[in-house]
Amino acid sequence: MKVLVAGANGHTGRLVIQYLKADGHEPYGLIRKEDQKATIEKLGGTPVLADLTKDVGYAVKGMDAVIFAAGSGGSTGPEQTEAVDRDGAINLAKATENLGIKKFVMLSSIAAGEPDRGPEELKHYLKMKGEADEFLKSTELDYTIVRPGALTHDEGTSKIEVGDTVEEGSVARADVAKTLIASLEEPNAYHKTFEMIAGDTQIEEALKSL
Ligand SMILES: NC(=O)c1ccc[n+]([C@@H]2O[C@H](COP(=O)([O-])OP(=O)(O)OC[C@H]3O[C@@H](n4cnc5c(N)ncnc54)[C@H](OP(=O)(O)O)[C@@H]3O)[C@@H](O)[C@H]2O)c1
Repeated sequence: MKVLVAGANGHTGRLVIQYLKADGHEPYGLIRKEDQKATIEKLGGTPVLADLTKDVGYAVKGMDAVIFAAGSGGSTGPEQTEAVDRDGAINLAKATENLGIKKFVMLSSIAAGEPDRGPEELKHYLKMKGEADEFLKSTELDYTIVRPGALTHDEGTSKIEVGDTVEEGSVARADVAKTLIASLEEPNAYHKTFEMIAGDTQIEEALKSL
C-alpha cells in the first residue's frame, strides 16, 4: 500500500516510515524542508515536500492511505496549534476525501475534545485536536482516530490497552507507530475512535476488540 505520512520527520513519524517499509508498504514522508529528505530516504521512504498549512493535494494524489502524525509541538504558540494540529489535519483530510482515497488514520491525543480532563497548559491543544477529530468523523473517510497517552521513547512491547477512555498513562512511540499502521488493515478499526496506553494486549488483538 502507498501510504503518505504527515509529520514524517517527527519522532513518531520516523518510526511509522521505518515500520511501514519493514511491513512491505511503500511509505511516502511528507516533510517541510529539503534537508530532511535524506532522513526519510534512509528510513526507506520517499520524501514529498509539502506544508500542511498550504496546498497538500499533490502530496496525497496517488496514495492508498494517509496517516497524520504531525503536530506543532510544545514550543510554539496557540496560533500554530490552530494552524497545524487543527487546520492542518483538516486540510489533509479534505484533500484525501476530495481525491477519493478512503483510509485516513489520525494520531490524536488522550482527552482530545475534553480539555477539562487535561492540565491548564494542554487545554487549548486538546480543544483543537478534538475539533480536528470531529471534522474527520464528519467525512466519508474510513477513519481511525488513535488517542494515546503521554508518548515515550521506550522500546515498546507491542502490547497496549485501548478503550473509549483509559486511565492517564504513557505509551511508547514505537507502539503508537505500530498501532497507526495496524489500523490501516484492520477493518474493525475503521470508523473508530479510541484512547490507548501501554498494556497487556497485542496491538492486533486490541484493534479487533474495539
Ligand atoms: N508528546 C506527547 O506526549 C503526545 C501525547 C499524545 C499525542 N501526541 C500527538 O502526537 C504527535 C506526534 O508526536 P511526536 O513527538 O512524534 O511529534 P514531533 O516529533 O513533534 O513531530 C511533529 C512533526 O510535525 C511536523 N510539522 C509541524 N508543522 C508542520 C507543517 N505545517 N507541515 C508539515 N509538517 C509539520 C514537524 O516538522 P519539522 O520536523 O519540520 O519540525 C515534525 O516533524 C504530536 O504532535 C501530538 O499531537 C503527543
